[in-house]
Amino acid sequence: MLIEHTALRNYWYAVTEAADLSPGPVSVTLLGEALVVWRDPEGEIVAAPDRCPHREAPLSLGLVKDGCLECVYHGWTFGGGGRCVNVPSSGEGRPVPPAAHLRPCHATERYGLVWVCVGEPAAGIPKIDADDDPAYRRINSGVDDWSTSVGRMTDNFLDISHFPYVHSGTFGIDANRLVPKIDLQQLDDDFYGYEYHVEVGNEAGAASSGIDAAIVTRRMTTGFNLPFTVRSTIHYETGLDHLILLCSTPIDDVRSYFTFVIWRNDDFSVPAEEVIAFDRAIGAEDKKMLERLPGVLPLDQTRTASVQSDKPSVEWRRRLAALLT
Ligand code: FES
Ligand SMILES: [Fe+2]
Repeated sequence: MLIEHTALRNYWYAVTEAADLSPGPVSVTLLGEALVVWRDPEGEIVAAPDRCPHREAPLSLGLVKDGCLECVYHGWTFGGGGRCVNVPSSGEGRPVPPAAHLRPCHATERYGLVWVCVGEPAAGIPKIDADDDPAYRRINSGVDDWSTSVGRMTDNFLDISHFPYVHSGTFGIDANRLVPKIDLQQLDDDFYGYEYHVEVGNEAGAASSGIDAAIVTRRMTTGFNLPFTVRSTIHYETGLDHLILLCSTPIDDVRSYFTFVIWRNDDFSVPAEEVIAFDRAIGAEDKKMLERLPGVLPLDQTRTASVQSDKPSVEWRRRLAALLT
């Protein structure tokens, strides 16, 4: 099974939006581990096993007051970095046993998302240059639960040959059926993938593309950052750049969180909700398809047939398999 590979513990995953921590706490599951996440009195994010050290009550049932998380069972209270700061039954100011402190994992905030690593980070969170560029705005989409494995999601996000089939309700058109030859390349420091031109249906996406035409041409790149992050960049002839970071997080082998973040250098005139409505509709099409596929995508590539349009995914699976062994 995929999540038993301990190497996966050493990467960052987006588990919730930073906005969800007001007031918190938030309960999430990452690689099969239940975690509680909240913002401590210094404003730092704490992510720790969702288990009170006293009698194992889920801490996510508790309340955050002034950054301190109070357990619902006997009121033990956890402050900065998850340290136990109060055991009410012992009386104010009494020392607490060392075992009363939480053991947090790595947690940080980036791109409006809370990222957690339950092991020791083997790599950073992928860098999105547009995030530092004032010409771009960032739009967060919320976090959704998908009943599918992260492997199937990443495979899908790297694949364009499903566009005319799965995405016929949004942007896929018959002209996409033939996939031109794919040349894989290092796109930048963090993403490996390919560049391509694609003509897409624009009726549902006119608000997002800012173009009033039935069909538009996009210059795109799609690439991955191991283990499961995919970035697509879309460039329109008008000069509009629209970037999407697709984050797939393993809850367990067959359930995942999905969230995407958009950056675009538009004039900010189209409301964010309208911009993400189109990408949400596309995501819903992928979700519907993927939830019909069985279990985990086999890492053993001899168990599935692949053709030239699968080249990006084949390379991603090869590198993922190498990372896991
Ligand atoms: S179980 Fe949390 S304070 Fe007792
Ligand atoms: Fe898709």
